[in-house]
Amino acid sequence: MDEVRRRHQAADSGGGPERLARQHAEGKMTARERISLLLDENSFEEMDKLVRHRCRDFGMENQVVDGDGFVTGYGSIHGRLVYVFAQDFTVFGGSLSEANARKICKIMDLALQNGAPVIGLNDSGGARIQEGVVSLGGYADIFLRNTLASGVIPQISAIMGPCAGGAVYSPAITDFTFMVESTSYMFVTGPDVIRTVTHEDVSKEELGGGMTHNSKSGVAHFLAADDADCLRRIRKLLSYLPQNNLDDPPRRSTQDPVDRADPQLDTIVPVESNQPYDIKNIILRVVDDGVFFEVQEHFARNIVVGFAHLDGRSVGVVANQPAHLAGCLDINSSVKGARFVRFCDAFNIPVITFEDVPGFLPGTDQEFGGIIRHGAKLLYAYAEATVPKITVITRKAYGGAYCVMGSKHIRTDVNLAYPSAEIAVMGAEGAVNIVYRRELASATDPDAVRKQKIEEFRDRFASPFIAAEFGFIDDVIEPRETRPRLIRALRMLENKTASSPRKKHGNIPL
Ligand code: HXC
Repeated sequence: MDEVRRRHQAADSGGGPERLARQHAEGKMTARERISLLLDENSFEEMDKLVRHRCRDFGMENQVVDGDGFVTGYGSIHGRLVYVFAQDFTVFGGSLSEANARKICKIMDLALQNGAPVIGLNDSGGARIQEGVVSLGGYADIFLRNTLASGVIPQISAIMGPCAGGAVYSPAITDFTFMVESTSYMFVTGPDVIRTVTHEDVSKEELGGGMTHNSKSGVAHFLAADDADCLRRIRKLLSYLPQNNLDDPPRRSTQDPVDRADPQLDTIVPVESNQPYDIKNIILRVVDDGVFFEVQEHFARNIVVGFAHLDGRSVGVVANQPAHLAGCLDINSSVKGARFVRFCDAFNIPVITFEDVPGFLPGTDQEFGGIIRHGAKLLYAYAEATVPKITVITRKAYGGAYCVMGSKHIRTDVNLAYPSAEIAVMGAEGAVNIVYRRELASATDPDAVRKQKIEEFRDRFASPFIAAEFGFIDDVIEPRETRPRLIRALRMLENKTASSPRKKHGNIPL
């Protein structure tokens, strides 16, 4: 009994009081504190607490800590099973040894076998230097499991300290990455190497801090104020997700009436078609209890993605944002939208699209950067998705962007439009300038002719009633009716089954 207690206590004390104090002084929790805040109270079952490294080089035989610095096991969040690992920076800087790579692989294998999410809390100096290639192999073993588990169980990474070099590629494969402001950073090569190689002077924070990856690179999906905020938000995210790809997301009860009409919705889209408005005002008024859990809110703000509930069912919302870059699709927004749609599709979460898109962003930056192949990702993701898909066109649905953003033609189930919708090959102004170029050139009052032709074009071509006559739009609805109409459509689609031709996998334009 004493031996059990002694060994367990030794593992609990991590790298010792001094290093624990240093961790706290840096504003970081310890691995065990993080796990206890993440999981339901007293639900954590630790595994491999007695594992030790086997390194005999560099005097390591005299430095042995039970558990070897990684805390792994399982527990529950909102009463549902999850697997978790947390790197303990107080033990060899949270570095990855062969022994603790095996610990991670063990819980990942269990998670895959038992169909439950894996959450990794990263705080590590990377590969354990003293172990060399054995440690590198440990990373590769984890990467393989991340890849095999992708689309089968949700995988969530939190970066709560350093994460550098090849170690970044495990979080990069997982579905969602959280970062903590000021205390976390990620980069493939750090500031010192960059200074030597490219002569650029950049701070750690600027290069790979939380805001950098949330706003510039798009590597991270959430930015938390501190450890506690990060763990709380992971719990919240999980409340929208199923346990695995064969499961449905959890349903929750709501007091929000399913037939709630909202007259305010009738006035959100401005009468002037070039006036911006915030699409989130529509989303918040439509979803259950006005709660929208936004994903990647700082990145590619011209598209908004996130989770919400409708009729107590988890849904993924994708919406163009006219308040930013007029809601144009560009490289970053296409990739952001595509990855989100694919996640929803993999995990049986219906996709609700609010569309107001004037087209793809013009410019050499975009063309040279490959907007063709990146835009194609979004198209591919929508076309491939077999979950229930519902699209509401609030205003513009121009050109290729009309096809891409959940159009009927790429097997969207229900397509609705507001009376303010403009569905056309291009905007009325551009179209009139091309089609009536000769008339305008010879007109005595070209402005008057242009104005008249623009109105004519809007009525004859861009009106949602034309698209509805072809059946490409199932109905033109009053905006106030959005919530009840979406819920009725979702209920109708509840038992949807759809499939695609058998194949090993598609070849999405990466
Ligand atoms: C072994 C390590 C370690 C590592 C840190 N430590 N990193 N031990 N292997 N990789 C130990 C330190 O010796 C120290 O031990 C303790 O952890 C805390 O480290 P400090 O340097 O005191 O902490 P800090 O000043 O906060 O700096 C943190 C750090 C720095 C920036 C992470 O430790 C560092 O640069 N470490 C090396 C990072 C690195 O190059 N890793 C390899 C990356 S490549 P004591 O006993 O003093 O407490 C990689 C490849 C993955 O990971 C490949 C995948 C394919």
